[in-house]
Amino acid sequence: MKRIYVVGSMSMDLVVSTDQVPSKGETVLGNTFFTTPGGKGANQAVAAARLGDHVHMVGCIGDDMLGKQILENLKHNHVNVEYVKKVKGPSGTAHITLADNDNSIIVVPSANHKVTVSLVDSALSKANKGDIVLLQQEIPADVVAHTVHYCYEHELTSILNPAPYRDISDDILEQVTYLTPNETESENMFEGDIDQALERYPDKLIVTQGALGAVFYDGLEQIEIQGIEREVKDTTGAGDTFNGALAVGLQKDYSLAKAIAFANVAASHSVTALGAQGGMPTINDIAQDLDM
Ligand code: RIB
Repeated sequence: MKRIYVVGSMSMDLVVSTDQVPSKGETVLGNTFFTTPGGKGANQAVAAARLGDHVHMVGCIGDDMLGKQILENLKHNHVNVEYVKKVKGPSGTAHITLADNDNSIIVVPSANHKVTVSLVDSALSKANKGDIVLLQQEIPADVVAHTVHYCYEHELTSILNPAPYRDISDDILEQVTYLTPNETESENMFEGDIDQALERYPDKLIVTQGALGAVFYDGLEQIEIQGIEREVKDTTGAGDTFNGALAVGLQKDYSLAKAIAFANVAASHSVTALGAQGGMPTINDIAQDLDM
């Protein structure tokens, strides 16, 4: 079976829910507070491990208590942690405000900015042709660029979820197998001309549209894959669930359209519970929604 390697961030999410988001200089009262494991990389690894198999996390945690909790959570979710490296200093944290059925996040990368190309090389040296490598942008840009290049040279399938947004080089755009921006990231990346970008990158550029679904161009026409609306408790991690599930769809050798449909279903479940990983479904939860 193809392996899935997630090269990325691991954090602890510190989450506040409130009816009122403070303006500059203002103090408001919140409703609830909780801590829960997050980080786009770890979220994608957990999403993939709940739906698929052979999921390996590659990245760094700090030598603090949060690092221990992050590691335990990955193990608990059956993610292989052989390439999770403990480094000196604090683990990554994300400071999340939930209000009006949406979230705003400040990420402090800490250990996540200590991921190196040599850690990636040692993990991927065990990969076989066709294995899947999933990336986001909460680790250093040079590590992301190196990993995409490594995948291209070694015939591994790469998926880059360009979140949070930062500029992406033409080399990455050419070499990556799949690119999964949301609409805002697409607009930044392609200066608003998403239709033209979809045609320029057939079977590569997949633009996610939240509950509406996702769109790609198959070389002949735009293919819209419908999303599924569910009652929203917390949208944090929905994009990560989409990406983790997409990797699993490809691991199962689904067509791109079917893998995206599978990912849409998984993402729709993820918003129904609190916490980035709280609503991520298992394969049994999804079987009810898709005819597989
Ligand atoms: O995508 C959601 C994630 O973004 C959160 O879990 C938080 O850690 C931030 O990195």
